[in-house]
Amino acid sequence: MPGTDSSHSPVARPGRSLPGSGRTAVVSGASSGIGAATASRLAAEGFDVVLGARRLDRLESLAASIGGRALPLDVTDPSSVEAFATAVDRVDVLVNNAGGAFDAAPVAEADLDSWARTYEVNVLGTVRLTKALLPALRASGAGDVVFVGSTAGLVSYEGGASYTAAKHGVHTLAETLRLELNGEPVRVLEIAPGMVRTEEFSLNRLGSADQADAVYRGVREPLVADDVADCIAWAITRPHHVNVDLMVVRPLAQAAQHKVARES
Ligand SMILES: NC(=O)c1ccc[n+]([C@@H]2O[C@H](COP(=O)([O-])OP(=O)(O)OC[C@H]3O[C@@H](n4cnc5c(N)ncnc54)[C@H](OP(=O)(O)O)[C@@H]3O)[C@@H](O)[C@H]2O)c1
Repeated sequence: MPGTDSSHSPVARPGRSLPGSGRTAVVSGASSGIGAATASRLAAEGFDVVLGARRLDRLESLAASIGGRALPLDVTDPSSVEAFATAVDRVDVLVNNAGGAFDAAPVAEADLDSWARTYEVNVLGTVRLTKALLPALRASGAGDVVFVGSTAGLVSYEGGASYTAAKHGVHTLAETLRLELNGEPVRVLEIAPGMVRTEEFSLNRLGSADQADAVYRGVREPLVADDVADCIAWAITRPHHVNVDLMVVRPLAQAAQHKVARES
C-alpha cells in the first residue's frame, strides 16, 4: 500500500485475512472472566491460542469450543511453569492475566498470608511466566507481552492494600521490562481496567455473593470481560512498531476509583 510500511506489521500479512493468523497467543488465567474472554477473542482474530490455568476441566471445554489448546498452569509453582513453557514451542503474544484479590482488610488488620497469596499470583507468578516465555517471545521476532494490571496499580484505596500493592508491582514490572527490552522486537503493554463485572473476582475477594453483588449495585453497565478482551485485541493488532504502553479503561459510570455513579 503506498505510503505505508507493512513490513513489520503482524496485521498486514499478504494472503492472510485475520490479524492473528500464524501467530500464537498464550493467555494465563484463561479458565474464567477476562482471561476466558481474551482467549475467545484472540481465537476469533485468528491466533492459535494456548490457554493456561489450574482448572483444567474449564480450560478444556473452552479450548474445544474455540479451537485452542488447554494446558495446566499454576503460575505460583515453578515446576508447573517450567512444564508449561516446555510444552509451548512458539509464543508471539503472552497475556499475563492470572491474578486476583483475596481480601479487603485495612492495613491495621492485614492478614499476611493473604498478602503473600496476592503477591504470589499477581507479581511473582507474572514474573515467573514472563521469564519462562521470554526466549520464545524474542525468537518470534515480533513479540508482545501484555500485563493485565488494574487501576488499583495506579492509585490507592482504603481496604485494598494487599491488592493495590501487588498491582503497583505489576505496573512497575511492565515499565521495567519495557526499558530492559528497548531495541528488541518485543512490545510491552499494560491494560489497567477499572470496575469489571466478572463472575469470580469480587466473590474471591469478599467471600459472599451478596457482598460481591454490592460492588456493582446501581452501577449502570460496569465493564464486562469482553470489553477488556476487546482492548487487548485492539492493542496487540496495531502495527508492531506501535506500542500501547498503558491503557486505562473504566466503565462510563466510574470517573475515578472513588467516583462511581450509582442509580438507586
Ligand atoms: N474484575 C475486575 O474488576 C478487575 C479489574 C482490574 C483488573 N483485574 C485483573 O484481571 C485479571 C482477571 O480477573 P477476572 O476479573 O477475570 O477474575 P477471575 O475470573 O477470578 O479470573 C482469574 C483467573 O486467574 C486464574 N488464576 C488464579 N490463580 C492462578 C494461578 N496460581 N495460576 C494460574 N492461573 C491462576 C484463575 O484460574 P484458575 O483458578 O483455574 O487457576 C482465573 O482464570 C486479574 O489479574 C485481575 O486482577 C480485574
